[in-house]
Amino acid sequence: MTRKSKIVVLISGNGSNLQSLLEGCHSKIINGEIVAVVSNNPHAFGLKRAKTFGINTLVIDENNYKIEKKTFHEKVYEAVKQFNPDLVILAGYMKILTKSFISSFQDKIINIHPSLLPKYPGLNTHQRALTAKDEISGATVHFVTEKLDSGPIIIQGEVPIFPNDTEQSLRTRVLEIEHKIFVATTSLICSGKIKRADDKVFLNENLLGKQGIKYDNSIERMLKE
Ligand code: GAR
Repeated sequence: MTRKSKIVVLISGNGSNLQSLLEGCHSKIINGEIVAVVSNNPHAFGLKRAKTFGINTLVIDENNYKIEKKTFHEKVYEAVKQFNPDLVILAGYMKILTKSFISSFQDKIINIHPSLLPKYPGLNTHQRALTAKDEISGATVHFVTEKLDSGPIIIQGEVPIFPNDTEQSLRTRVLEIEHKIFVATTSLICSGKIKRADDKVFLNENLLGKQGIKYDNSIERMLKE
């Protein structure tokens, strides 16, 4: 077994995705160690989740930098950089990273987004899917590039949309698949099975299509190999 990857997770809120990553590392599905959790929001519940697992937490409270926005981004960069991470994970981090942050961690930043990208980048994804009367929604994990929610896609997990769905019921269903695909992606990256070259993503040296891996049971089996 290769050495554990050092992971820093950025959050802004509840941290249910963080929780699944913490459990994934704890149960060794992920050959990685979350060395720190960084939040822009001092009240993020995810900070409590991290502390329960004895993980270092750092808060860069964005409210203290309302005028000095540049300083806020520099502080976030310093907070992450000091750990020299192999992987930076955006798990519900609702701030846009700077160009310099992204280029400093080239190929090492992944994000989870609650839609089947390229559909519905940005906010209010569930309401937009309901308004469009879509029958399928889901979530995407992708590498982060300068263009918001547009980096190379690693994996997508689909869920049905039912006629009586509300924004909340759809959010809950999508979150369940988010947790699965986030753990799967992180595990595959930490074991060296997923690699990126420019806008291309490879799984076991095989080039993936633009929509990445379609999540199903075979992915779960691959994690156990
Ligand atoms: C998740 O649905 C995640 O996909 C979304 O925020 C939620 C965080 O939930 N992220 C974005 O919208 C980023 N653009 P969590 O705090 O319970 O993990």
